[in-house]
Amino acid sequence: MKVNIPKVEASRLLNCGMVVLVTAAYKDKTTITPCAWQMPLSKKPACLGIALAKAHFSSELIRKSEEFIINIPHWDLLDKVVFCGSHSGRDIDKFAESRLTLIKPLSLSKTPQIGECLGHLECTLLDIKEVGDHYLFLGEVICAQADDNYFVNKCWDTRNGSLIFHLGGRSFFKSSPFVEVGR
Ligand SMILES: Cc1cc2nc3c(=O)[nH]c(=O)nc-3n(C[C@H](O)[C@H](O)[C@H](O)COP(=O)(O)O)c2cc1C
Repeated sequence: MKVNIPKVEASRLLNCGMVVLVTAAYKDKTTITPCAWQMPLSKKPACLGIALAKAHFSSELIRKSEEFIINIPHWDLLDKVVFCGSHSGRDIDKFAESRLTLIKPLSLSKTPQIGECLGHLECTLLDIKEVGDHYLFLGEVICAQADDNYFVNKCWDTRNGSLIFHLGGRSFFKSSPFVEVGR
């Protein structure tokens, strides 16, 4: 039997995205915002999109600074991901409270990276589309880095470590070791 899903919950049918931690900063304010609604959009130039609720502090900071960083967390950071997703950077200093390490980016000027993450995509803001209660922030990747213990032969090597995926609410799953298929 197939049951009807309320439209407001329809995103949950698609929502099993890899969780990233978006960092955003403007002047002396920073935030760390978990985001599962992320997508690559172009290879040349390298572009991506993230959908963030209009009310989020990260949305305000990105609109002002015109840059953001996607940081890719390991499964072991799940507690910190949940913490950062349960508070707004308007109310607390998420770097201080989560004890994640703020490190200087390679190319951007305002936004910090998260030291404990396995990869980083530093992006300048290309455009913003309003989509209902979210902004779709379109970013051009200025520089990308990954830990070579986990990113091998142009792919995440999920035998060495697990990435975080979000089903919605408090439900998560972790990546399993990858399978290679014959040509
Ligand atoms: C695993 C996870 C994934 C999330 N994905 C998104 C997302 O894709 N878009 C969004 O707007 N909020 C998402 N959220 C909610 C925000 O991360 C959360 O509301 C956060 O506290 C906003 O922080 P800010 O106000 O400092 O930006 C997610 C939360 C969690 C825990």
